[in-house]
Amino acid sequence: MDPADALAELLSPSGRVNPYPVYELLRAHGPVTSAGPVFFVATGYEEVDAILRDPRFGVLDDALRDQFLPGWRESPAVLSISRSMLRTNPPDHSRMRRLAAGAFTPRRIAAMRDVVVAQADELIDGMLARGRDGDPVDFMDDFAYPLPVGVICALLGVPTADRGLFRRWAGELTGVLEPEISPAELAMADRGATELRDYFTELVAARRRTPTDDLTSALVQAHETGGARLSGDELLANLVVLLVAGFETTTNLLGNGLVVLLQHPREAAALREHPEFAPGYVDELLRYDSPVQLTSRLSTESSRHGGVDLPAGSWLMLSLGAANRDPRRYPEPERFDPWRPQIHPLSFGAGPHYCLGAGLARLEAQVAFPQLLRRLPGLALAGEPERRVRLTLRGYATLPVTVGDPAPEP
Ligand code: HEM
Repeated sequence: MDPADALAELLSPSGRVNPYPVYELLRAHGPVTSAGPVFFVATGYEEVDAILRDPRFGVLDDALRDQFLPGWRESPAVLSISRSMLRTNPPDHSRMRRLAAGAFTPRRIAAMRDVVVAQADELIDGMLARGRDGDPVDFMDDFAYPLPVGVICALLGVPTADRGLFRRWAGELTGVLEPEISPAELAMADRGATELRDYFTELVAARRRTPTDDLTSALVQAHETGGARLSGDELLANLVVLLVAGFETTTNLLGNGLVVLLQHPREAAALREHPEFAPGYVDELLRYDSPVQLTSRLSTESSRHGGVDLPAGSWLMLSLGAANRDPRRYPEPERFDPWRPQIHPLSFGAGPHYCLGAGLARLEAQVAFPQLLRRLPGLALAGEPERRVRLTLRGYATLPVTVGDPAPEP
């Protein structure tokens, strides 16, 4: 199939629900292929990794948005994401990233382990109570959403009572990360962005009056002290991105990962017995069904990758999901194999925009999967899980499970 047709297939509802066969159609044209004038798609592991690290490429900037997305400045959704580190290039990116990384210390992340364990236990108790009589429960509603929301809210200092607000707002806002979006979806994304922005405006005002030791206070302080400061717009944009990036993705790692484990009972049993294997399992789950399937870059100078000349001004779709299944890098890529050596999936990206929350996301999944398998040894799928029709953030809309009998107390 012609690469442009394969791309159209990828963006169709069936392609978004199951992109993997389409990746192979694209891969047949080489690890980097032209899919239109100055538009390329990269599916090779080595090439995607190299482009993400190549300083001749940047994220979508204001000039390109002006060209392809007229009126974007009127869209609160696009505007809010565009002012965050996710969508800025150096020197703005380096300045914001340094400030956020300073507030997002390994110590703060390590200190979250007890919070993750406690929240996961509480959510499992809830699943047991609701699924006591064999009634199916929805793993997305009852575990995969609330765990990362609870953890990121604890980190940002969002009060517990407000956590229920974010699922809809964030779900709406992340529509703008899709490669194509309808006017109705954009309107929804704008609504979500406005709600989130209003919410954080109030939280920032509260932390300005009374700082605490949460991440919001640390960023407010970075905004208020001189030197490499953060503007008011950037402060809000980064808070929104931290919140949204902090749970939509991890939610999908938990949902996608649970389905894979339940479909591979032998491997699941080994993890139940040996929770210390969790790091390898989680990396293979990230590779096998990546919660973020793609990102994109613009080339500012001409370059050559994967044997293809990429002129300055080229636009590249970088398929993390396809790179994670590149047979040159991973033998039998369609097989779930937690014993692969040196997995290093590209699910968190690479280079200067490498996911700031990778450590936190890994921690959540490494705690959650063994804990779920240990406490709910009879956990099983109860019918067909339903995918969201989204390509960029790949996950389930609903995931019915039965919890079985709880494990006896040790
Ligand atoms: C960036 C994936 C969890 C915060 C990224 C990028 C990817 C990614 C692919 C790079 C995007 C690009 O290069 O265009 C994931 C996945 C996660 C996850 C798969 C969970 C399984 C988190 C968490 C947080 C977070 C828990 C925060 C608490 C961020 C931020 C950036 C980012 C702030 C932007 C970094 C920058 O631009 O310098 N993430 N993420 N992510 N992620 Fe994550």
